[in-house]
Amino acid sequence: MQQITIFGGNRLQGSLEIETAKNAILPMIAGCLLTSAPVVLCKVPCITDVQNMFEILRRMGCVVQPDGDKVCIDTSNICQHEIPRELAQAIRSSIFMLGPLLARQKKATVVFPGGCDIGARPIDLHLSGLRDLQVEICEQHGYIYCNGERMKAGVVHLDYPSVGATENIMMAAVLLKGRTTIIHCAKEPEIVDLAKFINSMGGKIKGAGTDTITIDGVSKLHGTTYTPMPDRIVCGTYAIASAVTQGDVTLTNARPQDISALLTKLRYSGCQVKCKRDTISVQAPKRLRSVLNVETQPYPGFPTDLQAPFLAMQTISNGISVITENVFETRFKHVSELVRMGAKITVKNRTAIVQGVPSLYGAEVMAQDLRGGAALVLAGLTAHGTTTIKNAQYIDRGYERMEQKLALLGANISRQS
Ligand code: UD1
Repeated sequence: MQQITIFGGNRLQGSLEIETAKNAILPMIAGCLLTSAPVVLCKVPCITDVQNMFEILRRMGCVVQPDGDKVCIDTSNICQHEIPRELAQAIRSSIFMLGPLLARQKKATVVFPGGCDIGARPIDLHLSGLRDLQVEICEQHGYIYCNGERMKAGVVHLDYPSVGATENIMMAAVLLKGRTTIIHCAKEPEIVDLAKFINSMGGKIKGAGTDTITIDGVSKLHGTTYTPMPDRIVCGTYAIASAVTQGDVTLTNARPQDISALLTKLRYSGCQVKCKRDTISVQAPKRLRSVLNVETQPYPGFPTDLQAPFLAMQTISNGISVITENVFETRFKHVSELVRMGAKITVKNRTAIVQGVPSLYGAEVMAQDLRGGAALVLAGLTAHGTTTIKNAQYIDRGYERMEQKLALLGANISRQS
């Protein structure tokens, strides 16, 4: 079990480069299966979700060759259409392999995916979208067997703009003859980046970033060298870290337009937020003001992945804040841990009511999912005394060496394995 210890109260200052987006690179790693030519991914972040996706490819016979922060992926010798069970259960993004495997091999077998426990997280939209493309799907004993021999381009109308379903269907359709249209799809920036990545391999995807995507099938994709976008959730988390420590932090390799929903709220809280094309500076006031109402929504709404970090910030803001989680049903596991640190929060159904207190105190707390774990780190940075975060390996799924980066900004933070 990994553990992070923080002696709180240090003001964060300085500048920090934002790493590559987990949610952009994970589907791209799966997307490498769309071609038998080598693909080079640049600025690959050192996080466990990425390592697990690479391991899945290796176990399927692919060659994954790191070279500094680049990784060359050669899937020409793929020898399987089944994703290894234990890895699929460790990482939800293994489901992204379904679309590319069908496109490449016309066959795929996966188990129901795992990942953070933040709600039911079904994959019905992925499967119904694939069925709309004439994939035959049989679910038995926890396995999903897909046969794509009769796959055809077509129209997929999603009932909900699921990020993963949009990406999976997009990848399944890339090599199909004719035009596929995905209506009511997700508009997240990571979807735009995935479309760019596939188009850089010769794909013909249009409309990514709007609610209708069209994919004109091509017979083959070639290799590419691609640098995925920076991580908007990591960027938002460090922006909040500056806010809760009365800090003055500049984030580089950032894209302000991707997190404008958060930046607006930081300004309302009293932070001075200055943006340039690829930098964001957050200068915090002595005491933050509570943001009355926050509701998580699909992009461009307030991101569910920043709900936990933002809630941590509200615990020490002046006033009352009402935070509603609309995207995932059980995403408030950090609340009981924050309460251990002196936060005043009540949760009813999908809404948390936070009564800000002047300060938190350190305690021993337990990370229970990735973003909830990050929220506990933020709380620990502002708390009086020592906070110990157990189960810190959850944080490593999506933040690259978080404690080292925060230490460079002046935090008193260390890790024990
Ligand atoms: C992606 C992100 C995750 C983020 C989420 C929402 C990646 C690797 N992960 O997850 O960090 O929190 O988007 O922005 O990109 N749903 C269904 N049926 C489905 C699919 C989803 O009911 O077939 C529901 C989910 O249970 C959830 C909601 O739709 O309540 C949103 O899920 P989705 O947009 O699919 O998120 P993910 O792709 O899993």
